[in-house]
Amino acid sequence: MSENIQSTLVEDRLFPPPAEFSAEAYIGDRKVLAELCARADADHTGFWGGLAKREISWDKPFSVVLDESRAPFFKWFTDGELNVSYNCIDRHLASRGTRPAILFEGEKGDRRTLTYRDLHTEVSRFANALKASGIVSGDRVVIYMPMIPEAVIAMQACARIGAIHSVVFGGFSAESLKDRIEDAGAKLVVTADGGNRGGKALPLKAAVDKALAGGCPSIQRVIVYNRCDLQPAMKEGRDVWWHELCATVPALCEPVAVGAEHPLFLLYTSGSTGKPKGVQHSSGGYLLHAIMTMRWVFDLRDSDVFWCTADVGWVTGHTYVAYGPLACGATQVIYEGVPTVPDAGRFWANVQQLGVSIFYTAPTAIRALMKFGDEIPARYDLSRLRLLGTVGEPINPEAWMWYHTVIGKERCPIVDTWWQTETGGHMLAPVPGCIPLKPGSCTTALPGISADIVDEEGTPITTPDAGGYLVIKKPWPGMLRTIWGDDDRYVRTYWGKFNNRYYLAGDSARRDKDGYYWIMGRIDDVLNVSGHRLGTMEVESALVAHPRVAEAAVVGRPDPIKGEGIFAYVVLRGERPAGGVDVVLTKELREWVSEQIGPIAKPDDIRYADNLPKTRSGKIMRRLLRSVAAGQDITQDTSTLENPAILAQLKGEV
Ligand code: PRX
Repeated sequence: MSENIQSTLVEDRLFPPPAEFSAEAYIGDRKVLAELCARADADHTGFWGGLAKREISWDKPFSVVLDESRAPFFKWFTDGELNVSYNCIDRHLASRGTRPAILFEGEKGDRRTLTYRDLHTEVSRFANALKASGIVSGDRVVIYMPMIPEAVIAMQACARIGAIHSVVFGGFSAESLKDRIEDAGAKLVVTADGGNRGGKALPLKAAVDKALAGGCPSIQRVIVYNRCDLQPAMKEGRDVWWHELCATVPALCEPVAVGAEHPLFLLYTSGSTGKPKGVQHSSGGYLLHAIMTMRWVFDLRDSDVFWCTADVGWVTGHTYVAYGPLACGATQVIYEGVPTVPDAGRFWANVQQLGVSIFYTAPTAIRALMKFGDEIPARYDLSRLRLLGTVGEPINPEAWMWYHTVIGKERCPIVDTWWQTETGGHMLAPVPGCIPLKPGSCTTALPGISADIVDEEGTPITTPDAGGYLVIKKPWPGMLRTIWGDDDRYVRTYWGKFNNRYYLAGDSARRDKDGYYWIMGRIDDVLNVSGHRLGTMEVESALVAHPRVAEAAVVGRPDPIKGEGIFAYVVLRGERPAGGVDVVLTKELREWVSEQIGPIAKPDDIRYADNLPKTRSGKIMRRLLRSVAAGQDITQDTSTLENPAILAQLKGEV
């Protein structure tokens, strides 16, 4: 992270939108954008209310745009009724029923095309399968699936009947899955026998079985899609095959109108405690935010083939795979596997073969593919690409330039989009037809989003390049509504710091002399590993659950590919290993964390010490640990350390 800040601090290149791009863009003129922003500033609710009327098909029109009576529990379009699945599928049938909605590519090269009509059939049938399984509006359904069309079908089917989905990333362990099922009190799990990733069939149903064996009394049924022929054991009375169940239900399912505030989904994300929080999103406001950002930021046109590489297990895979593209009637690519199978050209091969014109991925993926050199992308015809995007973490200018020249051939604007699970959709991002780009900056706030940078007291910082807290000063339609089952935590985490006045994003940022935002990193104990959010406390809790670990402290360390790597300091019960090294135990602890949380949480490095560096009041000196992990000189005052001698141990010098 600090390397990124250093390199972005000296960045002053400016890339204006190519004239051909602006000429055809949704917003191709800076004046038009400025007017839109000014209109939103002057009449926040009129602005969003007008868009909601125009962009969403309502079963019952709303009369209230924004209800602030229980702030910060804001409500949007409160008395309106809609169905999200209707908006994503049915309303396109007359005009584009035969248009491909999903171009699916399996990791092994198998392909399927689903038109909007096909999607309508599949979603309706699966919605009936859910109903036949006892699911009614408001019930929670956990989806633990590989990246195949059925993941999106299951999500849309929930939306069709008002069930609330909670997708759990397939890379999370049985233990994490169990915690999320229990917190949500889910009735049903949708899974697959496995998914193809990295040349292997990764078992998913086995993890579900393990999770359910350890608890989850609320689960009544498990629906299993057969993807890999792994032939998992099926538990009598609980488990059913997707295809068998669907064969017994009617093909038609009318969408059910729900209130605009009806929860569409929960998505668990990491915070500064050990327990992930269930971020709760709405139906109407969320959908509107997804639609508007598809237009403003992705400049979506009818001729586009859109590909967002994110897994449905993350918010990006919700807003820009499962909902946004479909709500706009787009054709999109879904790819099951990893970017390096059969080789590091897979993304570019997919772009060529499926005719992708808008490509959206994470900086980690760009950095990883950049390592393989320019010859690999040069083998493919990337001429259909017209817009590129990044999400999830800061992009260093070097990776930005590679993406711009080698992939975009200097023709394609790059939209660096800053947002969060909580925000529902893009917040700070360029409108590519009219905003000149600076590598490493997510540029400015979108219309109707009132972002600012403030100091400790909440006073706006106006000095260019001075860092502060990134806040959002007015509610917006796509915002989270609460944390599932924990309204207090919602208020405390996001609104407490500035007395319910501003939404606290949890990031620090600076604004340069041109008003461009540069994200500087998290201000809480949240790590960003390969664009994935992980709490240091989660990893610490996992470590101390191991019988040999007495205490653990986890910090991030700059990593050239992953952005941040995980570095753990561990105090064992009993003796510290001789010389501070124990290769066997380190391997065991890494595996242990992987089982507790998932492979993404595996520490890269573990160092053993007799105790952790604490102040006399008992606080772990995390900043010191971060410096040690990064191999930096210690500039912190260590005189308050209870045990100064452990510094050498932490550095691995003993
Ligand atoms: O720190 C910011 C970083 O990712 C965090 C949100 O993570 P998550 O909720 O998992 O959502 C990721 C996908 C939207 C933010 O608080 N982040 C996200 N986008 C960017 C970013 N950091 C810098 N630049 C970005 N474009």
